[in-house]
Amino acid sequence: MKALVIGGGGREHAIVWKLMQSRHVDKVYCMPGNAGIAEIAECIDVHSLDFNKLVDFVRYEWVDLTIVGPEGPLSGGIVDAFEREGRRIVGSTKMATQLESSKVFAKEFMKRYRIPTAEYKVFTSYIHAEEYVRMKGLPIVIKADGLAAGKGVFVASRAEEVVDALRLVMKERIFGDAGNRVIVEQYLEGEEVSFMAFTDGSTIIPMVSSQDYKRVFDNDEGPNTGGMGAYSPAPVITRELESIIMERIMRPAISGLKAMGIKYKGVLYAGLIIDNGNPYVLEFNCRFGDPEAQSILSRLNTDIMDISMAITDERLSDINIEWSDEAAVCVVLASEGYPGKYKRGKVIHGLNDVRDMDDVVVFHAGTAFNDNEIITKGGRVLGVTATGKDINGAKERSYEAVKRIHFEGMHYRKDIANKALNRQ
Ligand code: GLY
Repeated sequence: MKALVIGGGGREHAIVWKLMQSRHVDKVYCMPGNAGIAEIAECIDVHSLDFNKLVDFVRYEWVDLTIVGPEGPLSGGIVDAFEREGRRIVGSTKMATQLESSKVFAKEFMKRYRIPTAEYKVFTSYIHAEEYVRMKGLPIVIKADGLAAGKGVFVASRAEEVVDALRLVMKERIFGDAGNRVIVEQYLEGEEVSFMAFTDGSTIIPMVSSQDYKRVFDNDEGPNTGGMGAYSPAPVITRELESIIMERIMRPAISGLKAMGIKYKGVLYAGLIIDNGNPYVLEFNCRFGDPEAQSILSRLNTDIMDISMAITDERLSDINIEWSDEAAVCVVLASEGYPGKYKRGKVIHGLNDVRDMDDVVVFHAGTAFNDNEIITKGGRVLGVTATGKDINGAKERSYEAVKRIHFEGMHYRKDIANKALNRQ
């Protein structure tokens, strides 16, 4: 069979890597892909949101199944366009993707279906938002309504941070129309965790747990990023807590959407905060988390094509998804300046030195070829992912590999997975 993956980050490299291990798959395309993906699949340098052209491509190349990595094409309606033409695609429809593409939709949805989440209020006026924050006190959370590549959430513990966040989103409009509305939300204390599940619209199968590191610097300091690293499993998620999350959050989300006439198929990601054993939703995403996917997919034993086909055919209840008992840790190597304006075009050294390391896979994100060299092309450049018999083993292996890689301005967090180790 032939598969197509849409996207070109570490998550998509991990998806392509799993597809290449599938017993059903003999060819994988990736649009646009990156230098690492190009080593195992055929990359097509198309960033098109012209879904008719993409449908033509899968028809012409006899592609059997498409998997969508990022939220942009999902919220643009790629799944609707493919399904209209009878093409198999794993992902949520445009309507369903509102859970991620509109934070206001998600909050109203959670309120309606009694899914636990922080108290909030929606604003279109800067002045009213500022007044409300003054009344509520600090710390407080400010969120842009629309998509902002993981950078639209501001946790403010000082008055100047509130003013800055509201100014950037509502006045300077750094996220464009995504900042037409803002949510001002109660700050919840607790431990953050990423909980993902596969669903065909009726059956929901949880994945193994994971946790990502959103802030750019060690000890969770500095601005938010798309994710600086991740590990799996997250010990905070016990079996009992997994059942609670399924009962209070995941099942009500899928059945709530169904009650609204929206069938949700693909991956549902709940970004949670756990406070005294109680989970609250910080956000929903309609896709694999990145970098969480890099650690989670490293532990997936079941053929990803079997899972994908079961999702599109709505027979997920027929399959049993198996995971390795090992742990996985992913450390993201980022470009100088990221998550702000970053440098690109830096030559990446040492990739050959890690190629043959057992239990290590380097997933590429922002990389490209320049003659015979691989250079940086994005903010997040590589996800150095290792497995081990436990979190400590995986962490040590991952940082051992990190030490062998270098590019000018490279930075990364040194404390990935410490939260899991500190719980032991
Ligand atoms: N790592 C967070 C996200 O993928 O949205």
